[in-house]
Amino acid sequence: MRVLALLDGTLADPEAPLMRADDLSVTRGDGIFETILVVARDAREMGPHLDRLERSGALLDIPTPPRAVWERAAQAVIDAWPWETDREMALKLVCSRGVDGGDGTPTGFAMGSPVGPDTLRKRRDGLVAVTLDRGFAPDLKERAPWLLLSAKTLSYAVNMAALREAERRGADEVIFTATDGSVLEGPTSAVVLARGKTLITPPPSTGILPGTTQGALFRAAEKAGWETKVEPFDQAELRTADGVWMTSSVRLVTPVHTLDGTPIKADPELHRELTGLYESLY
Ligand SMILES: Cc1ncc(COP(=O)(O)O)c(C=O)c1O
Repeated sequence: MRVLALLDGTLADPEAPLMRADDLSVTRGDGIFETILVVARDAREMGPHLDRLERSGALLDIPTPPRAVWERAAQAVIDAWPWETDREMALKLVCSRGVDGGDGTPTGFAMGSPVGPDTLRKRRDGLVAVTLDRGFAPDLKERAPWLLLSAKTLSYAVNMAALREAERRGADEVIFTATDGSVLEGPTSAVVLARGKTLITPPPSTGILPGTTQGALFRAAEKAGWETKVEPFDQAELRTADGVWMTSSVRLVTPVHTLDGTPIKADPELHRELTGLYESLY
């Protein structure tokens, strides 16, 4: 089941070809995207997702269509989704640089898909994660902005390869580390750890994406009296933390219970508390 809308707000057949073969997203992965969770018609963190899409567009010099265009396409998908049979939808907004040699008009679409069984299993059972070297230093983003480290680009081949490597090692997920051993993020998620009543996540200045789910969780936690910190931490801290979570829009707040083959602290009560805080926002 998929629902596809074009940027003019009309629906299209999701099984019919849509992009031209010379579209730069097809030939070069040259474009940006967002994935938004929609629950019972409510598109969660739509504002922060559109902010991030705009930021990614600016980093890639893509003239991203205005927010109202994305909102119209998103609404068309939401209106056509079968909510009576499926309460959740992953909504993807995709924006390509457009066709090779064209006039620079970006191409794009909004597409709704069901939340997959693998994601549902990870939400329910938690994660076995491995740390993998991402191969860059935490100051690379500042030194080399052309590497687009904090943009959410369509070039996710490396991220997907890392997930396959995790699978080969018998794990569900990857926690990327920088060359100095500090923690970065997952291939499709942010990393959050708890130390007492403090939640910590690494800063976007290290070249990672600012997570909308992590942001929402921190917002709710602060209201409930938690302290939150956005600061670097070493991978060794994953072992001594009171809990480690990977957060993303569709996966939500998912606990890591095993890291590099060894169990780590994963208190179900603490997990319930954080999930409750996050859900209290919607
Ligand atoms: C590389 C990366 N980091 C972090 C995230 C988490 O972001 P969000 O919570 O906004 O989904 C994602 C989401 O897909 C991602 O791809």
